[in-house]
Amino acid sequence: MAERFRNKTIIVTGGASGIGEATVKEFAKEGANVVISDMSDKGESLSDQLNQDGYDTTFIKADVTKEDEVKSLVESTVDKYGSLDVLFANAGIGGMTLVHETDFTEWKKIIDVNLHGVFLCNKYAIAQMLKQENGGAIVNNDSIHGVVGKMSVGAYSAAKGGVKLLTQTETAEYAAKGIRINNVNPGYTDTPLLSDLPEEAKQELINLHPIGRLGKPEEVAKAVLFLASDDASFITGASLLVDGGYTAV
Ligand SMILES: NC(=O)c1ccc[n+]([C@@H]2O[C@H](COP(=O)([O-])OP(=O)(O)OC[C@H]3O[C@@H](n4cnc5c(N)ncnc54)[C@H](O)[C@@H]3O)[C@@H](O)[C@H]2O)c1
Repeated sequence: MAERFRNKTIIVTGGASGIGEATVKEFAKEGANVVISDMSDKGESLSDQLNQDGYDTTFIKADVTKEDEVKSLVESTVDKYGSLDVLFANAGIGGMTLVHETDFTEWKKIIDVNLHGVFLCNKYAIAQMLKQENGGAIVNNDSIHGVVGKMSVGAYSAAKGGVKLLTQTETAEYAAKGIRINNVNPGYTDTPLLSDLPEEAKQELINLHPIGRLGKPEEVAKAVLFLASDDASFITGASLLVDGGYTAV
């Protein structure tokens, strides 16, 4: 197994479940010190289990919408491991309503987690990476709906489209300072985020992917590791679609 992240310190937000959890495991397997951050305490048991298996992980509870908690997440990570080499800004929530039926409180919640949360994590990670000789890499978990719309994803798409352009703006600001920032844009992926969907609705989603199935969290995780690694040393400001062909047709 290649160990592209030996002695590197990684923060994964929303690391307790789904795509975040799969990415935590891939980074750990490649030798990283992984900070599993989540607002759910499930991150604690995941960390305990991985440490028992011989990996080096730490759980830090943080809500990405709270600036003081994000600031302290980055500070505690650097206190413990000495640097922050990679941020995977992944924490996010779903939401499916037509625009004219969307409750404004629900709209604000989706924008708060999926856009403001990514901004706050990027802000404090970048501030730390600017102090480091080797800079760093950030991957933001965007979505196919940061690139194309669909019925009932108004707030979600607005947030994810914002993430896409935030990443591009940050590229202009920080590429020359040794910080690469990219998006991963998954198609529908089989995680707890989709667990409430009735089977019929799931099948309708499957039909939208030419590959004929949903994505697996590990498939997104592998793309994240590529973007975060030196294998992607000339890639910044990009949006990597991991979508089984969803946006191609
Ligand atoms: N599953 C999909 O089909 C899909 C497709 C494209 C993009 N995404 C994106 O992938 C990311 C992860 O989604 P997932 O499918 O793994 O979902 P998930 O529900 O399995 O995991 C999301 C994690 O984020 C955490 N979280 C939610 N709000 C938070 C907050 N305010 N602060 C800290 N942690 C918080 C949750 O506790 C959970 O552990 C999201 O950004 C989502 O938009 C998912």
